[in-house]
Amino acid sequence: MPEHKSIVILTGAGISAESGISTFRDPDGVWAKYDVEEVATPQGFAKNPKLVQDFYNMRRAGLKTVKPNAAHLALARLEREHKGGVCIVTQNVDNLHEMAGSKNVIHMHGELAKAWCRACDQRSPWTADLDATVTCPQCKATGHMRPDVVWFGEVPYAMEQIGDILFEAKLFLSIGTSGNVYPAANFVNAVRRNGGRTVELNLEPSEGASSFHEAIHGRAGEIVPAFVEKLLNGQAR
Ligand code: OAD
Repeated sequence: MPEHKSIVILTGAGISAESGISTFRDPDGVWAKYDVEEVATPQGFAKNPKLVQDFYNMRRAGLKTVKPNAAHLALARLEREHKGGVCIVTQNVDNLHEMAGSKNVIHMHGELAKAWCRACDQRSPWTADLDATVTCPQCKATGHMRPDVVWFGEVPYAMEQIGDILFEAKLFLSIGTSGNVYPAANFVNAVRRNGGRTVELNLEPSEGASSFHEAIHGRAGEIVPAFVEKLLNGQAR
């Protein structure tokens, strides 16, 4: 593998499953228990803000007890040891990549650990619950704080930056994502158009599995460390 090869890694809920965070579309996933329209759309928030805040409060509180697993740790190792660029673009709103030591992480669907004030448009680090009585630490307005997450119908974050890094990517890994949600599901095609190699690492074939040059199926905690080891040893391309 050329030393300078730039690697882009898309991650989804499956990478955090072995840390105890539910995926969305598996049979016991989040969308089997909650109505996506009610808790993950601007319309749902307008209709019942308390329901939406409680949903994200529960998920934010859940972060206090989870730890990165072997897959997160392996990606942090890849960033430390690979001589070229390594960037993680995650759809996950948890902070397990950062806890594992990854530095170059883009949260395209936002972060549970931040709150967004709709009065002043500033983001603030957030670990507590949010509700209508909360005051923005920056502009001091009350009642305008929402979770800093991207809902269906909203534009994912950093799309221009992501477009640039996909354009440069020589290797694209898609880990633990079902390939149901766009634009992330299309990243594989963007990389292929520019001649990059693409590998899926997932429990099962994703919706877009046939778009990848190679697919490795199994639990992220097993297949990701093994793949990273091979990459760093020059045994995988
Ligand atoms: P999904 O729940 O759609 O897909 C998770 C994928 O991970 C599935 O293909 C599983 O087979 C796989 N998986 C489960 N356990 C695994 C394990 N231990 N190791 C490896 N793979 C495993 O989650 P996402 O694709 O991340 O967006 O969902 C994308 C977006 O849809 C989310 O960011 C969220 C959701 O609705 C918003 O809320 C805006």
